[in-house]
Amino acid sequence: MKNFLCSMALLAGLAWGTAGAQAPASAQAASAATPAAAPAVGGIQGQNIFQVKPDASEEPGYAQQNNGERAKVQPGNNAPMWRQVGEGVTGYSSLPKSQAPEAGNLIQPFVQYPGSRVTNAGEAWRQVRNQWIIPYGGALLLIVAGAIALFYWRKGMMKLHGAETGRKIERFTPFERSAHWANAIAFVALAISGLVMAFGKFFLLPILGGTLFGWLAYVLKNVHNFAGPLFAVSLVIVFFTFLKDNLPRREDITWLAKGGGMLSGQEVPSHRFNAGEKVVFWGGVLGLGFIVVASGLVLDMLIPGLLYERGTMQIAHMVHAVATVVMMVMFMGHIYMGTIGMQGAYKAMRTGYVDETWAKEHHELWYDDIRAGKIPPQRSAAATGEAPAVKPVQA
Ligand code: HEM
Repeated sequence: MKNFLCSMALLAGLAWGTAGAQAPASAQAASAATPAAAPAVGGIQGQNIFQVKPDASEEPGYAQQNNGERAKVQPGNNAPMWRQVGEGVTGYSSLPKSQAPEAGNLIQPFVQYPGSRVTNAGEAWRQVRNQWIIPYGGALLLIVAGAIALFYWRKGMMKLHGAETGRKIERFTPFERSAHWANAIAFVALAISGLVMAFGKFFLLPILGGTLFGWLAYVLKNVHNFAGPLFAVSLVIVFFTFLKDNLPRREDITWLAKGGGMLSGQEVPSHRFNAGEKVVFWGGVLGLGFIVVASGLVLDMLIPGLLYERGTMQIAHMVHAVATVVMMVMFMGHIYMGTIGMQGAYKAMRTGYVDETWAKEHHELWYDDIRAGKIPPQRSAAATGEAPAVKPVQA
């Protein structure tokens, strides 16, 4: 019934307005001179656009008028309402807050995100992204990639000094390798898709063109959404798998003080993982991993009970982008050392085994513990009771 009355009022208003608009100029002048009361149907007051006083804007208090007052002197002029919308005032919405938390709010209120001006939150977020994260994040990634390339060019691969003995030690069990590679593959998928989403428009769009780049970004965005949870789960497994051997030890201080022997060229003895690896573990896997995963799960809207407002997503995005750039930088160093930076490292993670010489040269204290019988040279066989696949180290 209410709807019907509203429709009738609208129709009446339209018909009346159209009639007015089509009336001859003399009739319009007469109507403007003697304003007729607008017909009210169902309590709704119509407004005659020809009743507008052209000089209404010169009246005192014009700028302070609310929308109702303005409608009386200038029907159809909704500037006060839109000014409020622009200032972030929330209007009434009957939609449930849990499902449409911001239905009554078109433009977010003013905020100042770190690095932005005081402006609407959407614009503030855009400023942080486009003026800080993208240029400085991109520059940092390029600088680190360049530094690693320069390091490799000057120093080359870190080779073994002694000859290989042929005697193998199991460095990573099949479980440890599976956990690591599941995590590494998810990480690479996330890194590539993330980089294309953030920087693709600068280096791929000009080459691929809009259509192809649009499809690529669309596919990679979905890859990113699905690889994220896989990364999160495998990261937790990696964390607990490698936790014990990444606990700080006294010898780590010496390792750090000597910078891992980078400058002297003399390796500093370490246990199974050296202090550099432990920094990556605690800072990269735990610290940054937690921030990246938590903010990523917010962006994926996978955290139950959270109110997903635009502000939540903007903050999650900024945190995610900064943390992922730092994480990528950290893991670029890790990937470098795990592939072309150090002879035998990649093979250790691929096959699970290292030569005795490798163990002695890179992780001397770990090697000593194996020789002393404190750590079995083949842990997976020891765990399953199977015969060692490769001849263990001779103690
Ligand atoms: C393509 C990517 C990657 C490659 C090629 C790679 C390679 C390697 C290699 C060769 C090792 C053995 C190092 C040693 O024997 O001491 C290793 C260890 C390890 N990697 Fe990776 N990795 C990659 C990505 C990742 C990612 C994304 C993470 C975690 C976010 C990760 C976490 C670890 C951990 C926890 C260890 C054990 C040593 C430690 O605690 O530092 N790796 N990786």
